[in-house]
Amino acid sequence: MPTLETLVSLAKRRGFIFQNSEIYGGLGSVWDFGPIGVELKRRIKDFWWTSMVHNRNDIEGIDSSILMDPAVWEASGHLKGFSDPLVECTECHKRFREDQIESTCPECDSELSSPRQFNLMFKTFMGPVEEEAATIYLRPETAQGIFVNFNNVLTTSRRKIPFGIAQIGKSFRNEITPGNFIFRTREFEQMEMEYFCHPEDSDKFFKEWIEFSMNWFKEIGIQEKNLKTRIHTDDERPHYAKSATDIEYNFPWGWGELETINNRTDYDLKNHMEKSGRDLSYFDESTKSRFIPYVIEPAMGADRTTLAVFSDAYHEEKVNDETRTVLKFNPKISPIEVAVLPLSRNEKLASISNKVFNLIKSSFRCQFDDTQSIGKRYRRQDEIGTPICVTIDFDTLDDNSITIRNRNTMKQIRVEVDKVTQIIKEHLETQF
Ligand code: GAP
Repeated sequence: MPTLETLVSLAKRRGFIFQNSEIYGGLGSVWDFGPIGVELKRRIKDFWWTSMVHNRNDIEGIDSSILMDPAVWEASGHLKGFSDPLVECTECHKRFREDQIESTCPECDSELSSPRQFNLMFKTFMGPVEEEAATIYLRPETAQGIFVNFNNVLTTSRRKIPFGIAQIGKSFRNEITPGNFIFRTREFEQMEMEYFCHPEDSDKFFKEWIEFSMNWFKEIGIQEKNLKTRIHTDDERPHYAKSATDIEYNFPWGWGELETINNRTDYDLKNHMEKSGRDLSYFDESTKSRFIPYVIEPAMGADRTTLAVFSDAYHEEKVNDETRTVLKFNPKISPIEVAVLPLSRNEKLASISNKVFNLIKSSFRCQFDDTQSIGKRYRRQDEIGTPICVTIDFDTLDDNSITIRNRNTMKQIRVEVDKVTQIIKEHLETQF
């Protein structure tokens, strides 16, 4: 298992993740995804969207706004209940979450103030004149955008219950103690799905969605031994949930939450009905009965999942007395699938390399790299987890063949240029 420092350093060196506003000293606990990181995170999000929306026939997608009517947060209980207990050191005035520390200040061991509830929502103003403008909030979860659109989606998609609505988007929480790289930040992306069902079926669907989520993490390539479920205790369950189970990952510092599956009951729809005066109940044609649907919610963080995937893929191996660092991503989510590497910048090699690149670029995520020695380029591709490197050398000019190198085994095979797309496809599917 890599240390967190190793991951942070590799992430920076290879363009996965950078400190935000770094040239100004860095904004604390805010991170930016670089050229390789953005591809990795995007592929993880696409994989989730495909599994949730495209590969199922009972889920629709939406993309709602970050800003919402403040009444939403009153109805959802976030204005009142979305807070953590905050304590302040009486000497150094650092602030901590009471439930994460012992009885004295972790920095200077002095006495702590009595706890007060600190609301985690970011506030801002809407309108051109700040004093007159309404206070609004940056959403702390994407879920509310789904609840307030329940009727819109139901009527336009002509769905029948049970069905779900999925969304990927940014959320914001003014966390008291963010940290552990991109694990807990104040701005992050969530992938959430609200599954609307009959109240009587909710326990069954709750179990099914835990299973679905666990399988999803395995499918993207996370090792089973690094995953486990954990049932929430009564005092940690969110204010809207009847039951909640986390899927945890074995991060470099220990087990931590990747995803929560909640049974939110009819809590949200009922409260929005009361506050808005709109009817959000559902009429079941088959039983001629009306009810407020219950909601099962698998809610995961795209950033946390990216960190888990990154950590899980990290391997160090001894090769000829040297240490090789290699990220063994599942090719389905690796940032780059194929690197095209001409052995030198020779004009004839460049021409055939461009031809190969153009031949395969619409079938795979490719990168063209003709800098540095071939050894250094292989090392770089290993460190960004590229499953296949294609090398064009001087023999190519004679035999119209190229070399394909497998990231995991480092074995190389010769392949005719005309067959390269098909052979890479098969190789990606069967050799990783
Ligand atoms: N709608 C339910 C909900 O938001 P949550 O357990 O508070 O539930 C869901 O959040 C997921 O969002 C978490 O499991 C985690 O992956 C991610 N998440 C929550 N807070 C985060 C933070 N401060 N930084 C990064 N990811 C976070």
